[in-house]
Amino acid sequence: GFFVNLDATALLLFIVVFILTADYIKNRRLTGFPPGPTALPISTSNILFVAGTYGDVYSLRMGQRWVVVLNGFEAVTQALVTQGDSFSDRPSIPLHDDIFHGLVFSNGNTWKQQRRFALSTLKYFGFGKKSLEPVILEEFTYVAKEISKPFNPHLIVNNTVANIICLLVFGHRFEYSDEQFKKLMKLFEQGTQLEVSVSAQLYNAFPQLMRRLPGPHQKFKRVIEELKDFIRTEVKDHKQKWDPSDLRDYIDYYLNEIQTDDSTFDEECLFMSVLDLFGAGSETTSTTLRWAFLYMVKYPEIQERVQAEIDSVIGQSRPPSVDDRADLPYTDAVIHEVQRMGNIVPLSLPHVTNRDVHLRGYTIPKGVTIIPNLTSVLFDKREWKTPFTFNPGHFLNEEGKFVKPAAFIPFSAGKRLCLGENLARMELFLFFTSFMQRFTFSMPPGVKPVLDYRFGVTLSPVHYEICAKPRHE
Ligand code: HEM
Repeated sequence: GFFVNLDATALLLFIVVFILTADYIKNRRLTGFPPGPTALPISTSNILFVAGTYGDVYSLRMGQRWVVVLNGFEAVTQALVTQGDSFSDRPSIPLHDDIFHGLVFSNGNTWKQQRRFALSTLKYFGFGKKSLEPVILEEFTYVAKEISKPFNPHLIVNNTVANIICLLVFGHRFEYSDEQFKKLMKLFEQGTQLEVSVSAQLYNAFPQLMRRLPGPHQKFKRVIEELKDFIRTEVKDHKQKWDPSDLRDYIDYYLNEIQTDDSTFDEECLFMSVLDLFGAGSETTSTTLRWAFLYMVKYPEIQERVQAEIDSVIGQSRPPSVDDRADLPYTDAVIHEVQRMGNIVPLSLPHVTNRDVHLRGYTIPKGVTIIPNLTSVLFDKREWKTPFTFNPGHFLNEEGKFVKPAAFIPFSAGKRLCLGENLARMELFLFFTSFMQRFTFSMPPGVKPVLDYRFGVTLSPVHYEICAKPRHE
């Protein structure tokens, strides 16, 4: 009996050693590859946590792939900007692969053409002839009516910001109580929750296995199909009313492109690009505004100073305009500091090397996922005076003029730079100054503001209720 046991134990030991060795050989870092911890469970907080221990460039094993994390202003901009040609592709994301061929996760020719089209159309509708400024100011009048105290700004602000994308893309807004609109918003909320679910993370790490298993990752595709149906209806309607001499919105422009160009512009891609604009352009801006409200109640003296500046430059008799920005350096600095501290896209979106590259003394082969750790830039000790304290002074010089340090990159940098940056900045400025002109924010009696982060598609504040007192009846 003893010998049989020994044999079984030896065999078991042999198998374990064999598996570990095989795994080690398969997973070991190649010569010149950035250092990093040997094993780490997959999570955003881990990536943020490890930063600092291993220097500006370190590597991690995530599921079945190697990931290189870039930290600090220099490493991030050297890769994304200076060596941008090698670092501007997106990796394949299994959960998206079967469904996404839009803008955010496309590569090559599709990405180039879709991005160029989106940028020029956004420019036209955002800042050109059909400026969104009056539309944003009008949307503010609707949201101002919705505010009763105390209220949870999550849903209200989401609706407001989503309506700006509706105006841009569909050419019309929705009443907040509209059933179709409520359905659209609910689907987006579901989609984003499913996207960050544990099951979706597992799917991305082990697609072959998970594809066969039931779970929320299967539901994600159904939600996307429903969203596409919604957009399909809008596109059908646009086709019926389409008039090349009067292009009203994003969809009209896109249809024009399908008529004149047979390359990467087709209806399927239109659906996905529209979804991308909602996905990338709604929750981001709305989350930033919700951080802004929280910081204002946390620092009432800053809120007062913003209001005093707005009162003296704009007064109460007219709404703000983007032209006022230059005369409101303190308000502008506060908005930027909210974006820096809010840090809502902490790890940017993933990139991938499209060739073997050398970066800061390391060799990174083609096909390695790259994570630009924007957190480490927005809180880089070498770049900010008080990185962990809310301090509008980061954006003001001695004379009180607005200045923007190069390390302010919440929209990332390089060829994949957020393409909605200008629109987002315009929305943040107009909505924030409008709110500050008309309301004073405070917490409900006895409640303290909580500045804790909630991990999701964006880093957002935990849900809170807030009071908004009209400043002038
Ligand atoms: C990409 C941030 C608002 C559309 C990104 C990226 C970041 C970002 C960090 C990833 C860049 C990279 O891959 O390195 C933000 C923040 C926003 C905001 C902080 C608001 C405060 C918007 C808006 C829109 C938009 C309003 C559209 C209307 C996009 C698109 C991409 C993108 C389409 C993908 C670009 C590409 O892959 O070429 N954004 N964004 N974003 N954003 Fe934004």
